[in-house]
Amino acid sequence: MADKPFLTDIKTLRERARKHIEDGAITPGYSGDRETAVKILNEALATEIVCVLRYKRHYFMAAGINAESVAAEFLQHANEEQGHADLIAQRIVQLKGEPNLNPEGLLTRSHAEYVEGTDLVDMIKEDLVAERIAIDSYREMINYFDKDDPTSRRMLEGILAMEEEHADDLVSLLETMR
Ligand SMILES: [Fe+2]
Ligand SMILES: [Fe+2]
Repeated sequence: MADKPFLTDIKTLRERARKHIEDGAITPGYSGDRETAVKILNEALATEIVCVLRYKRHYFMAAGINAESVAAEFLQHANEEQGHADLIAQRIVQLKGEPNLNPEGLLTRSHAEYVEGTDLVDMIKEDLVAERIAIDSYREMINYFDKDDPTSRRMLEGILAMEEEHADDLVSLLETMR
C-alpha cells in the first residue's frame, strides 16, 4: 500500500478553493502556465477568424459562379470555424485572459493564411492547405496542454477532429471536380 494518498483530502481542497475565489475556474491545482496558455489560445483564435473570413469570401464567390454544392460546403465550414472561435474565446476568458479580436495583426497571429484563390479548384486547394496547417498546429497545442490543462486539451481535441473532417470534405470536393 502506498503511504502517500493519491487524492488531495477534502479539507485541503476546500481550503484551497476558498483562498482564491476570484480566480473562478482556475484553482491552485491548475498546473499550466496561464500566460502561455492564453497566448497559444489567442493564436488559435486568430487562425479560426482568418478561416471564417476566407471561407466566407469563398462562399460568396462560389455562389456567384453557380457552384451551389461547393458554396454550401464553404458556408458550413465558415459557420463551424466561427463556433470554434467562440469556444476558444470563452476558454481564454475562463483562464483570466482576454480574447484578442483586434483586426490589426490578425494575420500575423494566425497560423493559417488568407488566400482568395482564383477559381473554384484553387479556392478548395487553399482551404485544404489552411486546414492542414490548422491540423498540425492543433496537434502541437494538444501535446503542449497534455495533463497540465485537460480542459483546453479536450476542447482542442474536439476542434481538431472537426478540422480533419473539413480536410476530408475538401478532398472529396476536389475529387468530384476532376
Ligand atoms: Fe476551426
Ligand atoms: Fe476547419
